[in-house]
Amino acid sequence: MPENLMDKLVSLAKRRGFVFQSSEIYGGLGSVWDYGPLGVELKKNIKERWWRSMVHEREDIEGLDAAILMHPKVWEASGHVAGFTDPLVDCKHCKNRFRADDPRIKGTPGQPDAQCPVCGMKGTLTAPRQFNLMFKTFMGPVEEDAAVIFMRPETAQGIYVNYLNVLQSSRQKVPFGIAQIGKAFRNEITPGNFIFRTREFEQMEMQFFVKPASAGEWFEFWRAERLTWLQGLGIRPEKMRWHQHGKDELAHYATDAYDIEYEFPFGWHEFEGIHNRTDFDLKNHQQHSGKKLDYLDTTTNERFIPYVIETSAGADRTALVVLCDAYREEEVQGEQRVVLKLAPALAPLKAAVFPLVNKDGMPELSRTIFDDLRRHFNVFYDDGGSIGRRYRRQDEAGTPFGITIDGQSTEDQTVTVRDRDTLQQVRVAATQLVGYIKEKITG
Ligand code: GAP
Repeated sequence: MPENLMDKLVSLAKRRGFVFQSSEIYGGLGSVWDYGPLGVELKKNIKERWWRSMVHEREDIEGLDAAILMHPKVWEASGHVAGFTDPLVDCKHCKNRFRADDPRIKGTPGQPDAQCPVCGMKGTLTAPRQFNLMFKTFMGPVEEDAAVIFMRPETAQGIYVNYLNVLQSSRQKVPFGIAQIGKAFRNEITPGNFIFRTREFEQMEMQFFVKPASAGEWFEFWRAERLTWLQGLGIRPEKMRWHQHGKDELAHYATDAYDIEYEFPFGWHEFEGIHNRTDFDLKNHQQHSGKKLDYLDTTTNERFIPYVIETSAGADRTALVVLCDAYREEEVQGEQRVVLKLAPALAPLKAAVFPLVNKDGMPELSRTIFDDLRRHFNVFYDDGGSIGRRYRRQDEAGTPFGITIDGQSTEDQTVTVRDRDTLQQVRVAATQLVGYIKEKITG
């Protein structure tokens, strides 16, 4: 998929109601996006599948929904106040800002040879300075230093500070995990590529607490699990690969980390990470809070601070992977079509109901079928325009099944079901439709 297809995807996302730019009528807010009627369903389907596989299908993982706002000391203990920074340079001439390692910069920022990638001036780039990526706000009515709190840059810390609460209330034993889905915020210097890197995004994170000696084994276990889960979303295996972090890439909390990368139209990039965070976070929270966070293994009488294996995925970035992977331009019966070949389980709409014409009892029967189906799935009713155009619209929305009610339907109560991908049409009794679709979309 060449790069300009990214523009086509952005345009389709807007046209069909997947993703809109935030505050668009005011000119938009940089790298913040809103999910429209279809986008919210797609992202919800991804999050629900993640939650099901992590929390419902496993006995050893509990769910959590911690608040976005946390005690400011959390971010000192976690190392984010000191270490969650990017090196930033300014152009004194055009006032643009860049990451110091922006590949477009020629020369060394701060030196006379350095050239601004936007205005082209030489010697106008400042020496790099560290810029903290956390958004700050104030708690309470007075805007003073003592009232500063942060918008969380990762959901993980909400899990660590609740580790004891969950352990005690759920009666779990190490090894066990805590999973959470929620918003995170980063004041990224160079956001972009649509919903790939944004300033407000959602994470699906799971922290698995283990005995230090078994951390390596669990790390490999979760790497395998996560890849299998992603393949279950229908993402083509050849478009994903592992990238192990080198020493210079590791986050301040990790001793080992692997990214799962996807081949986006703009290159290979990370969309999920598996990290061995050791006892870094719990140890630091124990030290800063003064609250003991160690664990007593009652079978061996060992006392230790658990190590943490983290799986960290972006819900928005996973949605972008799913959209990129599903996007196809094809020729069908001499006509071009754009189709999103989404896995039926992820598709925002499972089926669309079309009366062939708006007369001869077809609209009435279509409405009855539509009302019946929507008690089970998210379905769409469309009686506008030629049947071909209606199919095309649903192809772009990624709807796996098109149900047409025609002249025969009013006589024998059967309908045609068109498969989005194979384009084959089969006749199905109206009474069998729910079962027919259910069977195809479960997975
Ligand atoms: N708790 C570990 C952590 O936050 P990370 O690699 O910084 O690790 C994990 O982020 C995932 O969160 C990324 O793989 C990506 O999917 C998502 N993510 C991070 N920053 C993002 C951003 N600015 N916009 C969208 N998604 C982002």
